[in-house]
Amino acid sequence: MRSLAVFVSGNGSNFEAIAEGCRSGAIANCEVVLCVCDKPGAKVLERAKRLGVKTFVFSPKDYASKADYEREIADVMDSLGVDLVCLAGYMRIVGEELLGRYEGKIVNIHPSLLPAFPGANAIREAFEYGVKVYGVTIHEVNATLDGGRILSQVAVPYEGDDFDELVAEIHKAEHKLYVETISKILA
Ligand code: GRF
Repeated sequence: MRSLAVFVSGNGSNFEAIAEGCRSGAIANCEVVLCVCDKPGAKVLERAKRLGVKTFVFSPKDYASKADYEREIADVMDSLGVDLVCLAGYMRIVGEELLGRYEGKIVNIHPSLLPAFPGANAIREAFEYGVKVYGVTIHEVNATLDGGRILSQVAVPYEGDDFDELVAEIHKAEHKLYVETISKILA
């Protein structure tokens, strides 16, 4: 049995898709053993409770440094035997402590075809730019924002003008791609 930790700052729809993927067997022999969240009160915590997933919730301001909270997170992950860390809407740059202790085992999902539109407002920026093909990227995590070797991508063609509809389509593509990609990584 493989163990995943999923890091989330807000909503957690990708977290839920991954947890359901494990439950359904779409990701074989795997379990989400931990949800790490840096925002007490985030919606993902309701999802984690409903799905029976253990949480580690913290406020960065309660720690003297990033290394301090990352050390605590890594200790919890070590104790649970985490094999792979999946960032899913985790709005922080991962620091040296976590990168060092989970080297080559941290992946992230980003709602654009990287290297186009890195950063926190990718969908909005692509929409305002007027692109006709949007997309989703899953990549290894290193010290650069949305950098790291690309593991998988999918294009999401959209020529409409309804931003909410576009966001919904991108999220649907994200959930599918993340489950497929985790499955491939673990195989
Ligand atoms: C997703 O669009 C993901 O690509 C980005 O943050 C969003 C998280 O959505 N990094 P959710 O919390 O999984 O619903």
